[in-house]
Amino acid sequence: MQRLQLLERTEDDRRARRRLGAALGNRLRAATTDPARMLPLWRTFSVGEPVRRAELATAMSTELVHDAFGTGVLVEVDVDGELPGTWVRAAVCIVPVAIAGEMIWVASDFPWFEDDPDAVHGPGAATQTLRGLLPTRSPRTLVDLASGSGALGVAIACATGADLVAADLNPRAAALSELTAALNGLALEAQVGDLTDAVTGRHDLIVCNPPFVLDRPADRTMFRDSEDPRGYAGLAHDLVPLLDEDGIGIYLTNWRYGPALPHPLTDLAEDLAALPACDVLVLERAVVTAHDYVRVWTDDDALAGEWEQALLAHRTTHVGTGAVLVRRLPDDEDDEATHVSTSTAYDLSLDGLAGLVTGWLAAQQAARALTSEDRLVAAPYVVEELDDQASVRATGGLALSVTGPAAQVRSTAVATLEALRSPGRLSDVLAAVPALGPSPRTAADLLRTLLRAGLVRLA
Ligand SMILES: C[S@@+](CC[C@H](N)C(=O)[O-])C[C@H]1O[C@@H](n2cnc3c(N)ncnc32)[C@H](O)[C@@H]1O
Repeated sequence: MQRLQLLERTEDDRRARRRLGAALGNRLRAATTDPARMLPLWRTFSVGEPVRRAELATAMSTELVHDAFGTGVLVEVDVDGELPGTWVRAAVCIVPVAIAGEMIWVASDFPWFEDDPDAVHGPGAATQTLRGLLPTRSPRTLVDLASGSGALGVAIACATGADLVAADLNPRAAALSELTAALNGLALEAQVGDLTDAVTGRHDLIVCNPPFVLDRPADRTMFRDSEDPRGYAGLAHDLVPLLDEDGIGIYLTNWRYGPALPHPLTDLAEDLAALPACDVLVLERAVVTAHDYVRVWTDDDALAGEWEQALLAHRTTHVGTGAVLVRRLPDDEDDEATHVSTSTAYDLSLDGLAGLVTGWLAAQQAARALTSEDRLVAAPYVVEELDDQASVRATGGLALSVTGPAAQVRSTAVATLEALRSPGRLSDVLAAVPALGPSPRTAADLLRTLLRAGLVRLA
């Protein structure tokens, strides 16, 4: 196994590496329209080939090559019969990546270092998923937790102009996050710390693609991964104090299914309901067998077999994968209850997710602000009945539902939706739905619940 060379983290080293990143980013951007200049840069930083120092100096400048040595981004290569220092290679891989349409230069480790426990991986499918889930709004401050290469935070900051904070447990990841930021013209001083430990202040947006992987054999870790010992909601509890009013925290996670285990989404919703005043969305994107889950991570048969056995030993036959999004309420609403919505709409395309999450946030706000003068109209829905329970589910979108005893659901929720086939106010619902009784409060609570689930919307 090839081992990585240390990237020094003294203040001077970090400052020098940030300066180098900014200058190299300018060169790379300028070279995108100049193939002759791009070729040596590409071979060196993106492919990882050894190149002659003189050739690289022509593309980059002698001074920049010198600075890249000084900061550990370039190293010498011994070649028989050549003077020392004639050949060089990159110690850091730098490639262009598009994240939700934002093209950025990303610094990570070359793939041949992937078994090194310090190796920093570039953005992957999970990074793109998390980016795809973000509502369309522009945060002023943004935290990328467990930032790795820094690609996710840098892409969001480039697209929105947000001030970026990043933190990772791995000092090499913090160094590469800083380099990625500098390559894209951003100033970043990344922190080293365990999840939220190194983050202070309150922020508009916190994103985290965490190192949570279920039961990967301990001696074969990647990303220093592990499960959160506090359960699936643990990180949400850490994020809320770091969120500004109306701020959003969002993380990816996965949960265990098995016939002998409690239902993970019920458990998660109960844990999340204990958060201080928030609107919470749990989005389950897929449920896969233990076998398929393991195969997402490895094609090594021996490791896969060992890993699957470890999952089964924890009574896990299937794994649910998804995200938890938490919106902290404004401080003057901090005595309000937390509401949790759970979506299991599995066929949502990544392209539409940001719009759906944005719509969900708007619906939660509309539900909190609802007045008796607001006009509402029903959205398309289906009723599903099982034993004596019934669910009214919105068709399309996040497919959220309202569930309860069948007779009650029919006489209240379904009757209200029928009454709102054409737009109406609270008073119209009270007149049309006798089961709600004379209390405007009961009717208003039901309308809020239906709004939150996307079963009615403002007309
Ligand atoms: C799945 S990668 C995510 C990288 C990047 N955010 C992305 O989406 O491409 C997980 C990152 O978590 C970091 N990590 C592992 N354990 C951590 C911890 N306890 N606290 C903070 N970061 C941690 C790893 O070093 C790794 O960079």
